[in-house]
Amino acid sequence: MEFFKWVSLIFTICMFISKPTSSNFVLGKESSSEIPVNFLNLAKKPELVDWMVGIRRKVHENPELGFEEFETSKLIRTELHKMDIPFTYPVAVTGVVGFIGTGKPPFVAIRADMDALPIQEGVEWEHKSKIPGKMHACGHDAHVAMLLGAAKMLQEHRNDIQGTVVLVFQPSEERGAGAKKMLETGVLENIDAIFGLHVSPNFPIGAVATRSGPILAGSGLFEAVINGKGGHAALPQHTVDPILAASNVIVSLQHLVSREADPLDSQVVTVSKFQGGGAFNVIPDSVTIGGTFRAFSKESFMQLEQRIKEVITGQATVQRCNATVNFNIKNSPPYPVTVNNKDLHEHFRNVATEMLGARNIIEMAPQMGSEDFAFFAEKIPGYFFSVGMQNETQGQLERGHSPYYIVNEDVLPYGAALHASLATKYLLEYQSKPTSPEGSLHDEL
Ligand SMILES: *[C@@H]1O[C@H](CO)[C@@H](O)[C@H](O)[C@H]1NC(C)=O
Ligand SMILES: *[C@@H]1O[C@H](CO)[C@@H](O)[C@H](O)[C@H]1NC(C)=O
Ligand SMILES: [Zn+2]
Ligand SMILES: [Zn+2]
Repeated sequence: MEFFKWVSLIFTICMFISKPTSSNFVLGKESSSEIPVNFLNLAKKPELVDWMVGIRRKVHENPELGFEEFETSKLIRTELHKMDIPFTYPVAVTGVVGFIGTGKPPFVAIRADMDALPIQEGVEWEHKSKIPGKMHACGHDAHVAMLLGAAKMLQEHRNDIQGTVVLVFQPSEERGAGAKKMLETGVLENIDAIFGLHVSPNFPIGAVATRSGPILAGSGLFEAVINGKGGHAALPQHTVDPILAASNVIVSLQHLVSREADPLDSQVVTVSKFQGGGAFNVIPDSVTIGGTFRAFSKESFMQLEQRIKEVITGQATVQRCNATVNFNIKNSPPYPVTVNNKDLHEHFRNVATEMLGARNIIEMAPQMGSEDFAFFAEKIPGYFFSVGMQNETQGQLERGHSPYYIVNEDVLPYGAALHASLATKYLLEYQSKPTSPEGSLHDEL
């Protein structure tokens, strides 16, 4: 161990001996600007780090796909039970919602997703996925560990929490819109604000990246079947060729972004699937095409959806074919644009600056990816941010959804401390705000 580590370890030990983790030390109202640093120090305590790392590795070894997170959910419930944190289960199949604090308003939620991806892990290490073809390649294992870490710190200071922190462990982020299903159960009614995070290899460890307003695109899928009339490839006059029709449809779809969209309003239409025909001398009866579309506002998104349908059916008709268009593929509804609330942006900036320093708050460019946190942020004032985990001295990390994805576990204390600080400080500040007219209506969640 290096000298500095010894010093900081001794310092940490002294700190906790001389000032026992009495609630005031962490959550005192007088020194509310110290709360974030206090939580970060708590989160970096070796016992808590080891505990979070253990949970993350357990979840990593047993990845489960969307709405199948039974063992992950059980592990979460077991830990909440050990901490004496009450929870509601099941919420949207495998979801768990825990409560810390007074059980009374205001309510602030912090969220983690739990699902893995259908990817075979390519990293050889001690805690490699034990399930063939499934892997936590998006860091949701780390998200679960961070939220449980936050829960542990918050529960130790529950008597000082000025309201209720709601822990949201959600299923099926990658597909199937787990957030939407959770909202439909009504369990999250009356929540005043919700925070969500994602670990990211694009930013350095110890930094966070985010922006106010739209941050991630709305995303939809489409699939179309174009029907013609098959026949001999040498006698096209007796057929209605769906291959040529589909080709024209695809070319016409490219004009939606290039000719109809505002060049300053980012949009994407990609046809990524084209299936039809199987022989050199047969024109098939039908062709199936499919793809994705993205936009940064609800209006642009709805416009694209409507025009994709019109272009496919209209262009198919021009070619004497019929087309059916489906936007609800595999029961996965479109994901809305993720929009960060302006007031929560101020709150986030304050808390993150107190914890990490202003130079570690990075203004993030909007990205064409999407997140089903957007469903929460559509219903509840919401805020989503990236937590950096790139450590230059350790080599470049892979991007999400790669079979070689690796989580830098040093990121766990940052996520846990940010969750805990954002929630507690939100509740503290809520108390000093003039009471909202509906405030008195929310006595129950
Ligand atoms: C298109 O649909 C109509 C009405 O359902 C049907 O009569 C016609 O044969 C179809 N045309 C093709 C090319 O499939
Ligand atoms: C980055 O990695 C180095 C070498 O492993 C380590 O000493 C350092 O603490 C890491 N930085 C952070 C912020 O975790
Ligand atoms: Zn993902
Ligand atoms: Zn993810």
